[in-house]
This record gives sequence, structure tokens and C-alpha cells, in this order.
Amino acid sequence: MGKTQPVKNKPFSQIIGTGVGIPQKVLTNFDLEKMVDTSDEWIKSRTGIETRYIAEEGQFTSDLGTTAALNALHDAHVSAKDVDVIIFATITPDVGFPATAVFVQKNIGAVNAAAFDIQAACTGFLYGLELADSLIAAKKAKTVLLIGGETISRITDYSDRNTCVLFGDGAGAVVLRAAEDDHGILGVYTRSDGRLNNLLKLDGLGTKYPPTPEHYDQKMHFLRMEGREVFKHAVTCMGDAAEAIMERASLSTEEVDLLIPHQANIRIIEATAKRVKVPPEKVFINVNKYGNTSAASIPIAIDEARRQGRLKTGSVAVLVAFGGGFTWGAAAIRF
Ligand SMILES: CC(C)(COP(=O)(O)OP(=O)(O)OC[C@H]1O[C@@H](n2cnc3c(N)ncnc32)[C@H](O)[C@@H]1OP(=O)(O)O)[C@@H](O)C(=O)NCCC(=O)NCCS
Repeated sequence: MGKTQPVKNKPFSQIIGTGVGIPQKVLTNFDLEKMVDTSDEWIKSRTGIETRYIAEEGQFTSDLGTTAALNALHDAHVSAKDVDVIIFATITPDVGFPATAVFVQKNIGAVNAAAFDIQAACTGFLYGLELADSLIAAKKAKTVLLIGGETISRITDYSDRNTCVLFGDGAGAVVLRAAEDDHGILGVYTRSDGRLNNLLKLDGLGTKYPPTPEHYDQKMHFLRMEGREVFKHAVTCMGDAAEAIMERASLSTEEVDLLIPHQANIRIIEATAKRVKVPPEKVFINVNKYGNTSAASIPIAIDEARRQGRLKTGSVAVLVAFGGGFTWGAAAIRF
């Protein structure tokens, strides 16, 4: 949480496995040029995005989450039957209810788990990390499967150039268990400001604006964003959060091996890195490939960074995210 979270020296939990579930279909900037009035040059220079992956028809958030979960369990050498809790962070659940997490539970055979979703937009994975770490700290769970997954393409208006170039689909998962030594979650910091709820939102799909023909015509089932305002707040809040977690975990810039920012926009990433004085070679970037995958962006990045050898045993990573709500947060992890 915010200011109330105590400084923690010895970690309670650690990540013991990671995995991803990425759709096969690629949507390039050149494809988007044929759909809306935009250009590869504009998208690349303003956002850093070149491609994004899009779920196939009939492929849902739980399907991507299931693949990510199975890969993470395999990586962790953990049986699905040993999972105590499944937390699924998403703003694009398969259905209104039940939770996307229970579909994953069924698919992987995690018969002994409690399963539920959380919703904190692009910060969802970090909110989930705070919960997972707390459950393990309180000895309420031994093994937690945390998934961030989205099919943002389903809530994207592909006639709105302001938003449709930015987002992509995917899922990432991590398996957490109690830390046995000084490797693990060094701290998590989460914040929100509901006064700014109007700047990045999806009005439909809840009870306030039921799916009437009128609301459908008003495209209430699509995501809307005040891009310039979101950009300003994202830069400030991600910088604040990264600074806060480094201070709490008593980490100097030199001690950070990898900064993993939420992958929304290359300019937001660069501004965040500059604020905490982390040099470009220590900043993880894959926004060019995936676009903004919301709650999936950080777990996908963690998995890729591990596979590229950029997160080894002992590496210290700072994760930082920002999203609708507004919500924002950061975490420090010694791998
Ligand atoms: C959306 C964003 C890339 C736009 O970049 P920007 O530099 O702020 O651009 P502006 O908003 O100043 O718009 C400049 C112009 O480009 C236009 N434009 C917007 N999208 C465009 C596109 N895909 N292609 C071409 N032109 C586009 C705008 O209509 C505007 O035109 P106008 O001046 O005639 O009105 C940027 O604001 C952004 O990244 N915001 C944060 C988005 C985000 O990360 N959201 C999720 C947070 S988790």
C-alpha cells in the first residue's frame, strides 16, 4: 500500500517460476495504416510501438492466462494441485462473472486453490503482487499463482486512431512461494486517485450503462482515453513510485540491475528511467513488440528478461506501473 507499508528487510515471498501466453496473430503499424488515418512513422515516433499481438476469434483472456499459468508452473516445477490461490489481474475478463481465475483453475486442474480476479487496470499485476506477498507473509497461502492477462483488442475501437494503435493482447504469470533467504519481494508500493477516473475508462460492460442499442451506438463498450492528460500523470506517478520503492527498499540507483516499467509508451518509459537516473542499458523495453498489454505487460517483461539472461539469481529489479483509476505502483525484487 502507500504510506502505511512498513520497510521490509527480509523478503516474505519469492518468484520461483514465470511464463507467458501470447496470441500468434500480429497486427503491424502498416496494417493499422489501412484501418485508420495514421502512419508507421507517427506511431513509432510517438509511442515506440511497431507490432502488437491480437487474440484469435474464440480465444479469450482465460486461454492466454492458462497458457501463461502452465508455463510458469512448469518453470517452477510446481504441480497445479499444490496451488493455494490463483489471482488474475485483468480489465478484460471472459464474462461479467465468474472470475477469469476460475476458468484458469478448471483448465489447469488447480483443484485445491481459491481463485479470484482483481482489477487495477495496467497496475493490476503490482496490486496482485502485493496481495500474493501479503498472503504468503501471513501464512494464509504457501503457493500463489499470479496472472496478468488481457484481450484489450476486444474493448478497442479500431476506428479511433487515438487508442487503437496503442494496445495489444497477452498474458504473463508468476508462481510465488515463501522466501528462504534474502532473495524475493523486497517491497511493493501501490497508490490510486479516484478523482481522475474519467481520463482513462470503459463506461459500458457494467451495470451503469447496460448494453442497450443506444449505448452500443455510443460505443460505450470501448475504452476511451484523454491521451495527453494520461501521459502527464503517467510520467509523474511512475517516477514518484519508482523513487518511493527504491527509498523504502534502501536501493541506490547503482544497485538496480534492471528497471522494468509498464510498457505503455517509450517516452513514458524513458522519462521514468531519467527520473530515477537508471541508464538506458538497465531499462527493459519490449513495447515495440507487444504494445500496451495492460496488466500483462510487467509479467511478460519479467519472463522475457529472465529468458534473455537479463535477470539472473541475485539481480535486483524495480517494477513500476501506471493505469486507469488512476492507479500506480512499484515493486523491488531480488531474483
Ligand atoms: C496517445 C499519445 C501517443 C499521443 O501522443 P501525443 O504526442 O500526446 O499526441 P497529441 O495527443 O498531442 O496529438 C497530436 C495529434 O496527433 C493526432 N493523433 C492521435 N493519434 C494518432 C495516430 N494514431 N496517428 C496519427 N495521428 C494521431 C491527434 O489527433 C492530434 O492531432 P490534432 O493536433 O490535429 O488534434 C500520447 O498522448 C500517449 O502516449 N498518452 C498516454 C497513453 C497511454 O499510455 N495510455 C495508457 C496508460 S496505462
